[in-house]
Amino acid sequence: MKLSTSTLLVASLTGIVSAKDPIKKTLTGHIDPSQVYSFVYVPFDVEVGTTSIYVLQSYSDKGKGNALDLGIFDQRGYQLMDAHNGTSGSRGWSGGFRNNFTITPSWATPGYDPGAIEPGTWNVVLGPYQSNPGGIDWQVDIEMGFDSVDTFFELAPASVNLDPICNGCTEDKAFDWLRGDFHMHTVYSDGHYTPQEQITNALSRNLSFIFFSDHNTDTSNNIIGRYQESMAPDLLIGRAIEVTTREGHWQAVGLNPEQIIEWRYHAGDNPGYEAATHQVHRTGGFTSVNHPFATCGACNWGLDWDHNDAIEVWNALWDPQDQLSVQKWHDLLVSGKMTTAIGGSDAHSFPALNGLPTTVVKSRGKSQAGIVEAVKAGRAYLLEGPGMDLDFSVTTPSKPTAEIGDKVKGDANGATAVLATQGLAGHKACFISDKGYFFNATIVDGKQIDQKLPNGAKFVRIEIRNGTDDGMLALTNPVWFLGTKDEL
Ligand SMILES: *[C@@H]1O[C@H](CO)[C@@H](O)[C@H](O)[C@H]1NC(C)=O
Ligand SMILES: *[C@@H]1O[C@H](CO)[C@@H](O)[C@H](O)[C@H]1NC(C)=O
Ligand SMILES: *[C@@H]1O[C@H](CO)[C@@H](O)[C@H](O)[C@H]1NC(C)=O
Ligand SMILES: *[C@@H]1O[C@H](CO)[C@@H](O)[C@H](O)[C@H]1NC(C)=O
Ligand SMILES: *[C@@H]1O[C@H](CO)[C@@H](O)[C@H](O)[C@H]1NC(C)=O
Repeated sequence: MKLSTSTLLVASLTGIVSAKDPIKKTLTGHIDPSQVYSFVYVPFDVEVGTTSIYVLQSYSDKGKGNALDLGIFDQRGYQLMDAHNGTSGSRGWSGGFRNNFTITPSWATPGYDPGAIEPGTWNVVLGPYQSNPGGIDWQVDIEMGFDSVDTFFELAPASVNLDPICNGCTEDKAFDWLRGDFHMHTVYSDGHYTPQEQITNALSRNLSFIFFSDHNTDTSNNIIGRYQESMAPDLLIGRAIEVTTREGHWQAVGLNPEQIIEWRYHAGDNPGYEAATHQVHRTGGFTSVNHPFATCGACNWGLDWDHNDAIEVWNALWDPQDQLSVQKWHDLLVSGKMTTAIGGSDAHSFPALNGLPTTVVKSRGKSQAGIVEAVKAGRAYLLEGPGMDLDFSVTTPSKPTAEIGDKVKGDANGATAVLATQGLAGHKACFISDKGYFFNATIVDGKQIDQKLPNGAKFVRIEIRNGTDDGMLALTNPVWFLGTKDEL
């Protein structure tokens, strides 16, 4: 952080204040193809008085069969994060997006954490992602500087409770349906959008909340407060990370400032994925499996289905992989697992836009905690985007009207599903129970659809499909019927 006392003393005695010359190191090595999807740690010593670390990575056959990710751990070490206290030595990750970065006490390359540079053994982490049969010859050039510093990074997280009236409230009247998006990237990982551009896009689409979710880094979550107040005081900007493992990606949503979630494990590792989900749940967040059937390398889901609260069944523009996700989600609902369907635009760069699809949640106030609670309770539905809306409920003899996410104590016999829509005329409303599709109708503008539920249905949910190409336009989470046994 600062020049050491002895250096300062010598400098003041001689009257010459000159920074020590930078220390340069070049480290090289070879990675065997068998090491693909593991992590290789390259240690180096950081001296007292170091005020900047620059790392430049290069390797053989880049883009010609070889791909090597990049990140760094500081003197706290690279051991796996603890599931209970979340301690980590992680100081940044840029995957395959960057080949160099700088860390100083006052600023760092996006994706890397600025702050104190403590002496000790640091480790560059190399993540072989793809390899030719010949393997990867790598080189890491490190330059450590000793210039004096007089400014220090200030944490600037966004406010995640924009509803002071509802601070801790439990009144039902405080519930509000909020439109938002749980999944987007910025230049803090592999996006081309700046945080300001993502905020501008969200405002132009009338979203009430967005979550930044850069890959394996907390760095965007730590600076958004700089823009929230001046650009979008009414936009809830929540904190998430897209936890990018070698067995698929998952969303850690509703994090604290500076919270980072472990990503280095494979299926079956202990500690591994389960411990990492505890890190999210421990601090009050929810977890979601992202684009489980995506076809990019290591993007499809290979971890378990036992520790997620939600599934991103609709990622960016509707496509056949999303159809597989909806099918998987439906199968889990049928098996009795009350997991919540959410959407995510995964917007990285123009022309992709956040809010495509939009997730609408019934939240107790406009706060991160309220939104997390809503998702965990299944109070959410999905829309393709602006200009569309729906209202879905179930009326049951002698019981209050049930809304999306509600669990009715009793059975579905005699219950009626009621659907009203906006901006969806001409398209197909599909009513679905645990037995599958039981009623389809073309939506006539302004006209509500009432449909009796099949006797014995365990749940009912809605899909609205494009009348022309059957693509998804809207989807609700279910209203559940817990059966008479649960009735007390
Ligand atoms: C977190 O737990 C680990 C053991 O799992 C321990 O080594 C470490 O000191 C703890 N850190 C803090 C800040 O409590
Ligand atoms: C360092 O990274 C920046 C930004 O990604 C890039 O423009 C620059 O060319 C890189 N420097 C070297 C020496 O490769
Ligand atoms: C946002 O809301 C304004 C005011 O209600 C409306 O004029 C505009 O069309 C909306 N924009 C979108 C993209 O829905
Ligand atoms: C209703 O629409 C869905 C989705 O297009 C289709 O799979 C199903 O076969 C239809 N069911 C009926 C009864 O028409
Ligand atoms: C419905 O599908 C048609 C044909 O693919 C497409 O042109 C149209 O834009 C879609 N409508 C909506 C609302 O997405």
